[in-house]
Amino acid sequence: MKIYCVAGALAAAIFFPGGALPAEEQFNLEPASLTQLEKAVRSRGDPARGREIFLDTSDAQCANCHRLQGVGGHAGPALDSILGELDIRQLAEALVAPSRKITEGYDTYTIATTDGKILSGLKLKDSDKEVLLRDGLGKDTVIQKKQIARIEKSPVSLMPARLVSRLSRKDLVDLISFLKNPAAQLKLKGRLSRAWITGPFSRSVSRTEPFEKNPDPAKLAVSSSGKLLQWKLINARADGLIQLAGPAAVKKSSAYILALMQSDRDREAVLWLDHSSALRLLVNSETVYSSRDPAANSRLSIRLRKGWNTILSRVSNPTGNSTLGLRYEPARGLRLTADRQE
Ligand code: HEC
Repeated sequence: MKIYCVAGALAAAIFFPGGALPAEEQFNLEPASLTQLEKAVRSRGDPARGREIFLDTSDAQCANCHRLQGVGGHAGPALDSILGELDIRQLAEALVAPSRKITEGYDTYTIATTDGKILSGLKLKDSDKEVLLRDGLGKDTVIQKKQIARIEKSPVSLMPARLVSRLSRKDLVDLISFLKNPAAQLKLKGRLSRAWITGPFSRSVSRTEPFEKNPDPAKLAVSSSGKLLQWKLINARADGLIQLAGPAAVKKSSAYILALMQSDRDREAVLWLDHSSALRLLVNSETVYSSRDPAANSRLSIRLRKGWNTILSRVSNPTGNSTLGLRYEPARGLRLTADRQE
């Protein structure tokens, strides 16, 4: 386990290998600067671009920690209801100076253990025997109470204050206009954030495997060469894409990604596909899409039955880091998930 000082220092060390923007380009909380920002958000804010900034995993990193419309990480509060309560100025303050006002229940705690370690994070659980801390990367650590020498509430938010210093003014204006635009946020909805993966199979996605007839994550997948393979759960990255990973996804092979779609009736639905390499997609065991080239935001109209439908993708993985994004056009009575219980 790593030894952390305070959340801010941790974040600074991990998140900012490069430099910040020059001071004159940085935004501050002076009244004049805030008034300008408000005007700019109203007149020139581009919420669609702001959404990309929100999802960006290296600079703004918002979705690494926050969920919005079900998309994103768990180190910070879900933003759906919070955003409606904050005006542009309050949002700017929350971004520039996260520690000024800390969301209830999201205080950072610093724990010194009896063997000399210092850990910090959100206190998720505090029972008679143990404390559960979640750090800024979303990693949970259980600490036995008897190993705690000291525990303190930190005045520093787990949210790094320097995040916005990495953004240009235009980025900040677009980001805030996205955070104030529920219609633009709704476009996040419908992304598949967890799915089943099995593999590896031969690289060509046009080859078929017997279990395509009835893919079931509860059963072993029997390959045409007689291998028995398990289905494993895989999470999408913060940007909503599933990156092929693990033993199922070795270089120069292909893997299957399985998701389930529930529908309240027989109907048409629309899927949006993002894939970085060849893809064949099957709905209820019928191939309905096949492409040898990468595609971004490719629209696919599909036919669903009432009840549960299987959405099975065979994704080629030439370089070992292929990604697949699946999103459906939100409509009442539709759900895309890995797990029937979810
Ligand atoms: C390392 C995790 C992390 C990252 C990255 C992060 N946040 Fe946060 N954020 C938190 C935590 C934890 C809180 C709750 C504590 C607090 O209020 O400061 C929070 C609080 C907030 C709040 C609520 C403030 C309030 O007044 O209730 C907003 C809004 C917010 N973050 C937006 C963002 C945006 C936008 C980004 C991207 C620029 C971002 N956050 C990046 C962890 C993070």
